[in-house]
Amino acid sequence: MPAPTPAPDPSPAAPRPLRVALLGCGVVGTQVARALLEHADDMAARAGAPLELVGIAVRDASRPRDGVGTVVPRELLTEDAASLVDDADLVVEVMGGIEPARTLIRRAIASGASVVTANKALLAEQGPSLFEAADAAGVDLSFEAAVAGAIPIVRPVRESLAGDHVRRVLGIVNGTTNYVLDQMATHGLGLEEAVTEAQALGYAEADPTADVEGFDAAAKAAILASLAFHTRVSIDQVAREGITSVTADDVAWARRTGHAVKLLAIAEQTEEGVSVRVHPALVPLDHPLAAVRGAFNAVFVEADGAGPLMFYGQGAGGRPTASAVLGDLVSAARDRLVGGKGPHESAYASLPVLPAEAAVTRYQVRLLVADRPGVLAQVAGVLADHGVSIDTVRQTAAEPPAGVAAEPSAGVGADGTGVASLLLTTHAAREASLSATVAALGDLEPVREITSVLRVEGV
Ligand code: HSE
Repeated sequence: MPAPTPAPDPSPAAPRPLRVALLGCGVVGTQVARALLEHADDMAARAGAPLELVGIAVRDASRPRDGVGTVVPRELLTEDAASLVDDADLVVEVMGGIEPARTLIRRAIASGASVVTANKALLAEQGPSLFEAADAAGVDLSFEAAVAGAIPIVRPVRESLAGDHVRRVLGIVNGTTNYVLDQMATHGLGLEEAVTEAQALGYAEADPTADVEGFDAAAKAAILASLAFHTRVSIDQVAREGITSVTADDVAWARRTGHAVKLLAIAEQTEEGVSVRVHPALVPLDHPLAAVRGAFNAVFVEADGAGPLMFYGQGAGGRPTASAVLGDLVSAARDRLVGGKGPHESAYASLPVLPAEAAVTRYQVRLLVADRPGVLAQVAGVLADHGVSIDTVRQTAAEPPAGVAAEPSAGVGADGTGVASLLLTTHAAREASLSATVAALGDLEPVREITSVLRVEGV
């Protein structure tokens, strides 16, 4: 008699846990670890297998750090990052900086692990070689947390808008500078005072250079532009100006003319290629970005089909950034369990990345001029000579905005001639023409001083 066929096992074997290595245990790493430990059941149900946190690599395991010994067991810490990576299915890199993050990510990819990173500086500098390595190894390299913290923006641009055509991205992607500019607008603070306050509240680093000089925003602009335009853009191709030249007067005058001053990351496609830049700009008060207050971030996307879209939320901080990291981690786990892979780097369009001078923008210029017949015509002539069209022009010295002193030299100049303050706004023109116009205005005999030059965006 043939042996009876065993009945099929009604409960398939539980999937083996996926081993998660965490690189870095700062404010973000601690929150990623906490969530993996405290919400292990939810994570397992969502991913399709348990996500087992097998270790956390740190430079100095003996150094006291918040959360270790309480939310994170001390025994998870290790100084042997290489061994941790070699033994993982999923590697989360939240240490930041170029090295050793780059070497460890490459090692993880080479050993077949999928990687989740929040490292904007590394991606903006060396993204393509890392994406190529991940593609060759058939693993995911995910980076939602690298741009605008908790805000889902990488996935929407890369996946939800994959069938659309993005024209322009305008982002407030640095919370520190947005907080500083907002404090200047709200309380009339000077830049230094506002930066000091941001440092006291923990928004700004002790050395605020990366934020106030726009390096952090430039890295995010490079990543957003690459995604939006299917073109490789590195941080050294981003034209960058920080907020250090913005004065309390600029911010007050901006409000008077119906604008807010914002540090914008801008990526747009023109007929010639892709323009990617970071600079302070006047944004009309009725634009959604003007309403982004405090340390919040927002990214405004203009696409042919979808029209305008706005993504808003917290751009930094432990729990918000960990939220984005964990979303990527669950996705990478799901991909792994079905033997699949998330989207590849898409750089097929390979558009030219334009130099700073080719950007098309508008200027608002404040200047002091001799108050005598014919001066306005001379000023207008300079703009005409450079092919720059005037949108508005007004004499402003008579009524300075509340809280703003009259221009110090408005009234009567040293030579006894009256001095007037002019506020000019141009129509859109190339950056090269606009900056040449300002230089020529500075050389014009009746011009006493160029008080301020700010670009106008979002119109
Ligand atoms: N320092 C950044 C900011 C957060 O102020 O938004 C990390 O990119």
